[in-house]
Amino acid sequence: MCVVQVRNKKGVSIMETINYVNTTYHDDIKEDVLSGLTASQKFIPSKYFYDARGSVLFEKICCLPEYYPTRTELSILRDAAPSIMHYFPDGDIVELGAGANWKIRTLLDIVPKNKLSNIRYIPVDVSEAALEASTEELLRIYPGLNMLGIVADFTRHMEMIPCGREKLFVFFGSTLGNFNEDAGDLFLKSVAGSLGEGDRFLLGIDMLKPRDILERAYNDSSGITAEFNKNILNVLNRALEADFDLDHFDHRAVFNMEKERMEMYLQANVDVVAEISSLGLTVKLEEGESILTEVCRKFTKGSVDRMAFNAGLNVTKWFSDPKGWFSLVEMERWNEGG
Ligand code: TRP
Repeated sequence: MCVVQVRNKKGVSIMETINYVNTTYHDDIKEDVLSGLTASQKFIPSKYFYDARGSVLFEKICCLPEYYPTRTELSILRDAAPSIMHYFPDGDIVELGAGANWKIRTLLDIVPKNKLSNIRYIPVDVSEAALEASTEELLRIYPGLNMLGIVADFTRHMEMIPCGREKLFVFFGSTLGNFNEDAGDLFLKSVAGSLGEGDRFLLGIDMLKPRDILERAYNDSSGITAEFNKNILNVLNRALEADFDLDHFDHRAVFNMEKERMEMYLQANVDVVAEISSLGLTVKLEEGESILTEVCRKFTKGSVDRMAFNAGLNVTKWFSDPKGWFSLVEMERWNEGG
């Protein structure tokens, strides 16, 4: 555990960080890449996008004119913040996959200064560097706010989140759409299991919309998305002593109508032979063959209701933008008694 102290005008705020990830990250990436790149449809799990460079590139994606999700979600959040925070005089706000802190600031901004110390913000993220950078900034902006940073993979370490106080879980960015159906259901069940009576879960959801809007959002004209997608090979090159040549791959983003999801690929533009030294693995791709790096499922009101119900959750509020492109869905655990 590491404790970060930040001085602000009103004294010293203390942020604690607990790290559950470092010890296993290296074994994870070996196992994940070995099974992904020996599968018939090759894949690399998308959590490996986010090294330092990947995180910076993703921040840039969020500001692209074509990439509507971030700014749409933020606008919904701004309008919904008073309603969300109204019933939350004190307790813990747990943000799963915290990353940059723009979204949470929208909620914290409407808490009166003298009430900030009643709230504890608990960001959970796999990247310790990203977590520390964003939380140190928050401590300066919101003097008195309590924080507990948890470096963890929230798909596996949900039980590490401390209980005891009233909780608002938030999971922004439609990251749920990046899980396949089974993993998504499992994740929602684990969230439901962590919710006590009166606790709430706020989930960001990207809605199904016409193909051209979706494909443009994941294939911007300035090429930043392509750079982001290819950077996952840099992560492998570094972490696993591999020798992928990024120029031998093209970024491809296609909408899969049947599965209602965007699919992101790295497609070999020549025959590729790459060595992954630390795995003793030679990876071969024929020209035109691709590696799946991300799926982004898109949802409808019906599919969200069904998914929530199956996980033991009940939709209590639905916030959306005028075009209905994105939604913030508030849920509670449903109680068996009705
Ligand atoms: N989680 C983001 C999303 O689903 C990630 C993302 C945005 C992404 N653009 C991408 C992943 C392009 C791969 C390629 O929206």
